[in-house]
Amino acid sequence: MKLFKIYFSPTGGTKKVADLISGQFDFETTEIDLSNSMEDFSKFTFSEKDLCIIAVPSFGGRVPMAAMSNIKKLKGNGSKIILVATYGNRAYEDVLLELKDTLTTLGFFCIAAIASVTEHSIMHQFATGRPDLQDKEELIRFSSEIKEVLKHGEVTKDLYVPGNNPYKEYKVIPLVPQVRQECEKCGLCATKCPVDAISKDNPMLVDKEKCISCMRCVAICPNKARSVNEESLLAISKKLEKACSERKMNELFL
Ligand SMILES: Cc1cc2nc3c(=O)[nH]c(=O)nc-3n(C[C@H](O)[C@H](O)[C@H](O)COP(=O)(O)O)c2cc1C
Repeated sequence: MKLFKIYFSPTGGTKKVADLISGQFDFETTEIDLSNSMEDFSKFTFSEKDLCIIAVPSFGGRVPMAAMSNIKKLKGNGSKIILVATYGNRAYEDVLLELKDTLTTLGFFCIAAIASVTEHSIMHQFATGRPDLQDKEELIRFSSEIKEVLKHGEVTKDLYVPGNNPYKEYKVIPLVPQVRQECEKCGLCATKCPVDAISKDNPMLVDKEKCISCMRCVAICPNKARSVNEESLLAISKKLEKACSERKMNELFL
């Protein structure tokens, strides 16, 4: 069996979870990075002999649109797939259901789903440091349970995952990072932006219409020259404090 680790992880939290889960399986592994704007995703065709893990973050309780448009190019051909939604301790709402519906239509066979809490990539005071040790232990236990099911062939025919259809309206608060003078125009952010919203000729220029507020440019800037407006951040943090503060649990659906 071959394993394909498919992920959209602008700031690395989702990849951490995908790495941890895939690391529990002893299969030859290929990585597919859904944030690579240079990749031709229509070339990825899987088979019944394959196992895929797909991990995406919750953006307003939905699959990030930029990830979804690339996911829709994949061809399942009966490949088994484990769905993973990461979220910053508020909610993942319709992410797993949207993944399940879409991937089933694309010919994948959804065998398990995991919701995993990861540090909030905009408001780092929520779920700080997660996945932590306790999360890691839980994710390893979840993976063992999935492995057992795979070994004994007791795969659920129609996997239950929470969520509502019609899905929530896709509404992400626009928080376009600002660029400060510290920017040395190295261009790393422009190369790594999942939606090509930053000019490669002049990284000070951002296409606000294209930006998905994923925070990758903020996370990877070697000079810490990019950040979101402090006042907006404070206002959103206050609004979300109640919903995000209490520690949420990781979940496994089999
Ligand atoms: C635009 C945007 C929207 C988000 N919406 C939610 C949300 O609805 N609920 C939640 O709990 N976390 C939300 N988060 C936090 C991310 O889901 C979480 O931090 C995730 O781990 C980010 O993945 P990454 O580190 O792979 O980029 C959001 C983050 C961003 C950037």
